[in-house]
Amino acid sequence: MKLLTTVRQMVQAREASPRPLGLVPTMGYLHAGHLALVKRAKEETAAVVVSIFVNPTQFGPTEDMATYPRDMERDLALLEQERVDIVFAPPVEEMYPAGYSTYVEVEGITSRLEGERRPEHFRGVATVVAKLFTIVRPDCSYFGQKDGQQLLVVRRLAQDLNLCTEVVAVPTVREPDGLALSSRNAYLSKQEREAALVLSRALRRVEELWRGGERDGEALRQEMRGMVQAEPLAELDYVSVADTAALEELGTVDRPAMASLAVRIGRARLIDNVPLVEETP
Ligand code: PAJ
Repeated sequence: MKLLTTVRQMVQAREASPRPLGLVPTMGYLHAGHLALVKRAKEETAAVVVSIFVNPTQFGPTEDMATYPRDMERDLALLEQERVDIVFAPPVEEMYPAGYSTYVEVEGITSRLEGERRPEHFRGVATVVAKLFTIVRPDCSYFGQKDGQQLLVVRRLAQDLNLCTEVVAVPTVREPDGLALSSRNAYLSKQEREAALVLSRALRRVEELWRGGERDGEALRQEMRGMVQAEPLAELDYVSVADTAALEELGTVDRPAMASLAVRIGRARLIDNVPLVEETP
């Protein structure tokens, strides 16, 4: 496994790499969710690049950039075990040198949900992902359903800017009790960890109701709201049942949709979602 830290090295390595080449972008502090993306990439491509970069442009001024958990040594050991070919871990100055002034703005879907609460967040994500696609030129790139809106933003970006990579969505990896794996779970105390189960419980309930034929969007949102409000340690940010094309809140769930929510528990802000999509027989 090669560890590369400059754009120049990465471009050279990409030119010498067998194809198809897969890319798994991450911010490190890897867990089984990230590794599911890596495993999928290993299955589908001839060489795998994992990027580790805590991207400053996607964090707001009051967010957790400075304290975002990091453990490069452990990450490298995990990726070595997965037989990853290249780890690309540039320092901030390599991605954003002095004078840097170009940003990528995806319109529409970024004004809702996470985008509404975290101004500039998706501009930062789209910018760094566009840069990574340009530097690595992956044939396939792997993103988690866990960050459902991010996945939609990246798909739009790849399509609109002709970045020529197949964006592959990997299902959310959960703990046995339902909690979606997240680097930010590290912030939770034992009691908060227990309270955090309300996200997956609410989503499971919505999925059940939907499978049972409930198509009233507001009824589904109300169900989630009620469950979160009943959890004393949880502070609700939003609940949503929106179509996956425009992320508009649905009155009637009559097209492919995503149920999602954001909840603050202690100092962690947690998000989770489930797709509500008819399976094609
Ligand atoms: P990060 O939060 O490190 O996540 C990297 C990738 O892992 C994302 O595609 C995310 O959706 C996926 N992921 C995280 N938890 C998961 C889980 N429980 N199951 C499945 N996949 C999971 O997302 C980012 O980094 C950044 O925004 C990035 C895309 C790297 C741009 O900076």
